[in-house]
Amino acid sequence: MAARVERDVGVVIVAAGSGSRVGGAELKQFRWVAGKPMLLHSLQTFMMRGDVVSVVCVLPREYVADPPPWIFQCDIDRLMLSTGGRTRSESVANGLDDLPDEARIVLVHDAARPLIGGQTIDRVIAAARETGAALAALPVTDTLKEVGENGNVVRTVDRQRLWRAQTPQGFQREVIVRAHRDAAAARITSTDDAALCERLGIDVRVVQGSERAFKITEEQDFERAEALARVSE
Ligand code: CTP
Ligand code: MG
Repeated sequence: MAARVERDVGVVIVAAGSGSRVGGAELKQFRWVAGKPMLLHSLQTFMMRGDVVSVVCVLPREYVADPPPWIFQCDIDRLMLSTGGRTRSESVANGLDDLPDEARIVLVHDAARPLIGGQTIDRVIAAARETGAALAALPVTDTLKEVGENGNVVRTVDRQRLWRAQTPQGFQREVIVRAHRDAAAARITSTDDAALCERLGIDVRVVQGSERAFKITEEQDFERAEALARVSE
């Protein structure tokens, strides 16, 4: 008999942005990439897991009442739709409010990172359970230059200890709820949830992410995703 897994992970997928850097008529998170709509990739990846109790998809307001039909290609008993805010932080906060009580561990993930894989998710959940707050990230490999307004190098930045933050980011529920409440009260927003914990002095553990989890930000990233979809995590 298989070991019983704890079904206590709630996932918030933020998909309420406007995709202004990609542009175009269709929202980037709804555009097809690597065989299906971008958001459906991560939605189905999280739904495949036995430890996930609920996935909250945070959508732009006009889509919550009238979602794209493909969104129901998942276990709809565990699907919830929530309304996005003006900033990513607000969208995450709205999603957190809609998680069921059973969700003791919370993952926050960008819909714009469709190719997230199970091993990275495993690492984030394990570290979040152990430490309270964790994120997937990759070490910086290029030499970094700080550049002045005149286009000249100011200095070379030591990259030894620099990592590129990705999602998912994982938290014990009390930790992320407190971080968001405090940030909202202080009117602070961030494109990164771990940063809201850091500002409260909470230790955040870094685990290895993956190139496949890169964020589709600009038009040329769609091509990169098609190529990366063919290689394994
Ligand atoms: N996001 C969100 N609510 C917002 C802003 C962003 O849910 N108010 C989500 C996006 O849908 C995306 C993720 O946060 O999945 C990361 O944001 P980003 O890549 O910046 O997407 P957009 O904000 O949509 O794009 P842009 O910044 O180019 O407008
Ligand atoms: Mg944005």
